Amino acid sequence: MSSMNDRDLALETLMLALRSEASLVPADGRIGFLRARVHAGLLPFGERLACEQDFKPAAVELHSAGLMGPDYKALEGKYALVLLLPERQKQQTLADLARGIDLLEEGGKLVVCLHNDWGAKRYEKLLAELAGEVGSISKSHCRVFWAQKTRMLQPDLMTEWLTFAQSKQIVEGRFWSRPGLFSWDEIDDGSRLLTEQLPDRVHGSVADLGAGWGFLSDFMLRKFSAIRSLDVYEADRIALECAKKNLAAAAPGAKVRYHWDDVTAGVGSGKFDYVVMNAPFHEGRRPDPMLGLRFIEAAANALKPGGELWLVANRHLPYEKLLQATSATSEIVIQSGSFKVLRGVREERPLESRGIRLSNLKEVVH
Ligand SMILES: C[S@@+](CC[C@H](N)C(=O)[O-])C[C@H]1O[C@@H](n2cnc3c(N)ncnc32)[C@H](O)[C@@H]1O
Repeated sequence: MSSMNDRDLALETLMLALRSEASLVPADGRIGFLRARVHAGLLPFGERLACEQDFKPAAVELHSAGLMGPDYKALEGKYALVLLLPERQKQQTLADLARGIDLLEEGGKLVVCLHNDWGAKRYEKLLAELAGEVGSISKSHCRVFWAQKTRMLQPDLMTEWLTFAQSKQIVEGRFWSRPGLFSWDEIDDGSRLLTEQLPDRVHGSVADLGAGWGFLSDFMLRKFSAIRSLDVYEADRIALECAKKNLAAAAPGAKVRYHWDDVTAGVGSGKFDYVVMNAPFHEGRRPDPMLGLRFIEAAANALKPGGELWLVANRHLPYEKLLQATSATSEIVIQSGSFKVLRGVREERPLESRGIRLSNLKEVVH
């Protein structure tokens, strides 16, 4: 289990607990899984199980495993058992706990698992404040804890926590966002730096990869009137919903298309004059430079010959080599504070004809 990330470990521990604590799984009734992830131990639940997942790569995996339909579907109605694997933002987790309880039928159980480093003990206490008595077990640096929906439920607290899952206006009311999204309540310094560097010539068909709640897209639509179309790619469904709301307010003349997509799976080839991004570099708590490298790979393929990639990244991230390998010319435009802005101009020739094997990223990086 040592190579697992914290979320994988929590999933494994949750499934172990369901197997070893027979009282956690009711003999019948519906089972809902919030922020679901694939695990073989879920398959025996068959038709009883409904999974919900906002993050596209995980949603695709659930669909491939036969645990979810091809489209997003929110859990609805009432369940005998709700499972929850929270993410790392506090208000988002409180909202999830409240929603988990809300989805239960009277007497139903919410079972949660978190890595200890993600504040498991603290959330167990908070669940006790909401629902009354909780049970728990500790294993593999994780904590599984559960509560039943009973008359001990504190409805006021539940209402308060549920409001954390509503979109809020941020940055003096200019944007809508939600706890749990990247830099949810302020403009990221790196993204701001990138907007200060983007040249006035940005035009034509443009893509924003990993658009979050839409700061970069909003900036470009307002600033560059020669943009004909903007394709907004984002894996987090909630972030994409916020981006839609924000960009509608930008009242663009350009055609804007929204994609709930995993950018690392590619975004087409030879389509864009400009690709802009502040790529993700974390998977959970663990920095993962491969994620950004895959974004660069997707961008390199998606640009038209002569098209430009503009990206901002933390200075320590090893992106230059791949950018060089995939571009006719590339440069560090600026380094400022902990960020750098990089630019690459797409080769006229296809990448494959230059012998660049992007499928083996490690080769290109080291
Ligand atoms: C560093 S944030 C940048 C957000 C926004 N562009 C900004 O400048 O504020 C990276 C974004 O990429 C999204 N993301 C992470 N993995 C992704 C993937 N595989 N495909 C598409 N988007 C992804 C995250 O949800 C996050 O919104």
